[in-house]
Amino acid sequence: MYRPERYTLLWDPEGSILLILLIFFFCTTVHAGEYHATKEETFSKTTETLVCSQCHTMHGTQGGQSMIYTGGALPGRALIRAATIVQLCLTCHENNSLGMSNPTPPDIWNNTLGYIPSAGDFNDRNPSTQNEQNRHSVGQSNVTPPGSNPTFSIDYFSCISCHDQHGNTNFRNLKKRPGNASADITVNYSLNGSGTCSDGTSSPCDVDNTTGGSNLVKYYRANVTFIKTPSDTNGIPAWCGGCHTDFHGAGGASNMGGSLSGDTGSSPWLRHPVRDVDINEANANLHADRTFWAGITTERVRVVNPDNTAPSSTNADEQPFCLSCHYAHGGGNPNNATDPTLDHSNLVMIDSQGKINLDSTYSASSGRLRNVCQQCHNQ
Ligand code: HEC
Ligand code: HEC
Ligand code: HEC
Ligand code: HEC
Ligand code: HEC
Ligand code: HEC
Repeated sequence: MYRPERYTLLWDPEGSILLILLIFFFCTTVHAGEYHATKEETFSKTTETLVCSQCHTMHGTQGGQSMIYTGGALPGRALIRAATIVQLCLTCHENNSLGMSNPTPPDIWNNTLGYIPSAGDFNDRNPSTQNEQNRHSVGQSNVTPPGSNPTFSIDYFSCISCHDQHGNTNFRNLKKRPGNASADITVNYSLNGSGTCSDGTSSPCDVDNTTGGSNLVKYYRANVTFIKTPSDTNGIPAWCGGCHTDFHGAGGASNMGGSLSGDTGSSPWLRHPVRDVDINEANANLHADRTFWAGITTERVRVVNPDNTAPSSTNADEQPFCLSCHYAHGGGNPNNATDPTLDHSNLVMIDSQGKINLDSTYSASSGRLRNVCQQCHNQ
């Protein structure tokens, strides 16, 4: 059996201290990348949000009752309060089963909180159907990331393959060395686009959480923008490339083709560009239509936008990257009942009204991947 967090905390051996601390934690606004982190790892360096007892138990029982959220008396590996790491995280991040509030844990598994989650959704709209083809298959063993080079396999693919469970200064606590990465990859962030970045470097940062820190609102897709300047080895595309090595690289690299200024006529791409090249260059190379891109009145696909300014028919420095076409966790499954083969590869699709496939008003009958491509290419 499991008991709600607030009761187990009251009965915790460290009870009185924790209770006081928790009142402090939960009444304080926490910012992006600020949760499950020591205060030194947070943006403002004032609020501690790493609460050991949310995830660990020393013996498995307290007052003779189970401390394990999923039941039983024996803690999981590393003394965690669930049989597996994915179950531990989902205790709070699926359906808020402990009823936490202030802050409320974002729901990442069939989110019903009424907003479009920035990371996408592991189980959008189809709680009864597990669509492994359209999400990162967390919970599975011995999986190989497509494009990994050298090829490697992950023994147990889980939330902590990508997130640091004890926090760090990256956006959303993204691990600094995912997969094969041999050096730290930062995905730093700013709050409301100004000041220094989360790792202490000066702006521009990789990510701008435009509404600052308020709970849940900061997880809305519309409130997360990607602004890092070109030709960097940090940021989201490099980070995804920590596992999907061959799918990321500078223009001109052997796995990518192209050149730093795009395909100027003699340097065709071998894989879709994911950094360096922007719509200004693509427009000059006659591969994209800048005027069309600037004129879009529905939601634009996500891009890295170094000047953080909307495009015009004469200036569009936006670059395509992984999250232009993919969701980080998983995509929408609106076709699942009729044609599951259309929902795969965590892809973003857009319907004839310009709605993306995670939007509850998205129409599967008019939704196409090509509507994503056409925003830039207008072929
Ligand atoms: C006891 C409940 C609980 C458990 C268990 C839990 N979380 Fe959380 N998590 C939260 C809450 C609450 C928030 C933050 C809300 C906020 O800051 O607005 C959060 C936020 C996060 C965030 C976003 C941080 C940010 O930058 O805003 C990530 C990533 C995350 N959790 C991952 C995990 C992972 C991975 C696990 C399992 C190892 C896990 N969580 C287990 C409650 C929990
Ligand atoms: C959000 C959930 C979460 C919180 C909060 C948390 N841990 Fe952990 N911790 C984990 C998970 C998951 C593992 C990894 C288990 C594995 O890899 O098998 C882990 C591993 C550990 C380990 C062993 C590996 C290592 O990193 O040294 C220690 C020690 C540890 N945690 C201590 C702590 C302490 C102390 C706190 C509070 C300051 C804390 N944890 C808070 C989830 C959490
Ligand atoms: C820790 C390693 C790791 C990182 C980092 C990582 N992935 Fe993956 N990815 C995998 C593995 C393993 C698979 C194969 C198993 C599966 O389908 O989930 C995969 C599969 C995929 C798939 C195919 C999904 C399917 O079901 O066919 C896509 C698309 C994808 N990843 C995109 C991304 C993007 C975009 C990022 C960055 C936001 C990213 N990945 C970061 C490990 C990773
Ligand atoms: C393949 C890497 C990967 C895996 C696996 C993964 N995440 Fe994430 N997660 C990300 C990225 C990247 C983001 C930020 C995406 C964005 O803002 O567009 C994110 C964002 C989040 C957020 C913030 C909510 C949001 O909508 O942005 C939470 C909470 C979170 N992850 C928890 C989890 C939990 C819990 C698991 C395991 C069930 C998990 N993640 C597995 C990469 C991953
Ligand atoms: C956010 C804008 C954007 C989106 C969305 C986008 N692309 Fe691209 N694409 C570009 C840019 C920029 C280039 C580089 C053009 C250059 O080198 O001049 C490019 C290059 C290409 C190339 C290579 C052209 C060459 O000359 O080698 C192809 C093919 C392509 N895209 C197809 C697609 C398809 C198919 C989709 C949808 C699945 C898509 N693109 C989505 C911006 C985008
Ligand atoms: C222009 C759109 C676009 C961009 C940008 C893009 N992808 Fe993809 N991705 C796709 C499409 C479409 C597929 C389906 C397979 C295909 O067409 O190659 C796919 C498939 C994948 C797969 C699954 C491959 C497999 O074997 O199942 C992974 C992993 C992946 N992408 C990761 C990434 C990563 C990581 C990035 C950024 C470094 C990225 N993608 C950028 C459109 C894109």
